[in-house]
Amino acid sequence: MAATVIDGKAFAADVRSRVAEHVAGLKSEHGIVPGLAVVLVGEDPASQVYVRNKGKQTVEVGMHSVEHRLDATTSQEDLLALIADLNADPAIHGILCQLPVPDHIDGDTILNAIDPAKDVDGFHISNVGLLGTGQKAMVPCTPLGCLMMLRDHHGALSGLDAVVIGRSNIVGKPMAQLLLGDSCTVTIAHSRTKDLAATVRRADIVVAAVGRPQMVPGDWIKPGATVIDVGINRIDKPEGGTRLVGDVDYDSCAAVAGAITPVPGGVGPMTIACLLANTLTACCRANNLPEPEGLTA
Ligand code: GUN
Repeated sequence: MAATVIDGKAFAADVRSRVAEHVAGLKSEHGIVPGLAVVLVGEDPASQVYVRNKGKQTVEVGMHSVEHRLDATTSQEDLLALIADLNADPAIHGILCQLPVPDHIDGDTILNAIDPAKDVDGFHISNVGLLGTGQKAMVPCTPLGCLMMLRDHHGALSGLDAVVIGRSNIVGKPMAQLLLGDSCTVTIAHSRTKDLAATVRRADIVVAAVGRPQMVPGDWIKPGATVIDVGINRIDKPEGGTRLVGDVDYDSCAAVAGAITPVPGGVGPMTIACLLANTLTACCRANNLPEPEGLTA
């Protein structure tokens, strides 16, 4: 039977409309407008596209959006001063510094300078620790989006075998923590895993987040498993031009899987939708108001 295609574009649109509804309620009932500040240092073209999309979608859901585009030569000291200002600004509930930052700036120092309560990326060491110990945290956006889609597809995830391929701080590690939090049996596989094929074949849920185009073939997938593809890789087409592919070989995996996310249109759109959800959550927490249901971990 053909796999169910999990439509991340439609799912993200639904998340955004739920966020927008909650934002409208905050405004009319409490006079509060959630605010998100995005900081970009340098001219990385991919980052510029992300930041533009973030700003546009923030405004579309009724939030206050602030963008700080800084020159690539900005000093770490000046960047830290800007973050201190944003930490102190009561109109700002979420702060995100787009990665990567230029080489002369220490990324960890910047991420850990953001007020953990405003850390809508969930990258501050306090939020990493809170998530790892099962406490209320700000949760990284891409894994949160994957979790929402998995919960929607499966209902409860308890007892399922999950294999996360990739051990990055942005996706792999927090994804594993979230799946563990939902009582999956979790394996984190990576480039040194001895028998990756055998490891993946055990999984009811496969999350591929390695950044290697089409590296997971269909014969690694257990029949009926759910495949979440976090990869976004641009490859050359034989006839010329390029196209986007994920970390899994879509056609062969879709022939075996029970459900699969496409690339594009799967996990990708969920990341910004979850950033908006996190900004709303941070705003509700800052104002001691009830958090939106179904939009947090
Ligand atoms: N660069 C690539 N992905 C991300 C992300 O999720 N957050 C930030 N801040 N930068 C990124």
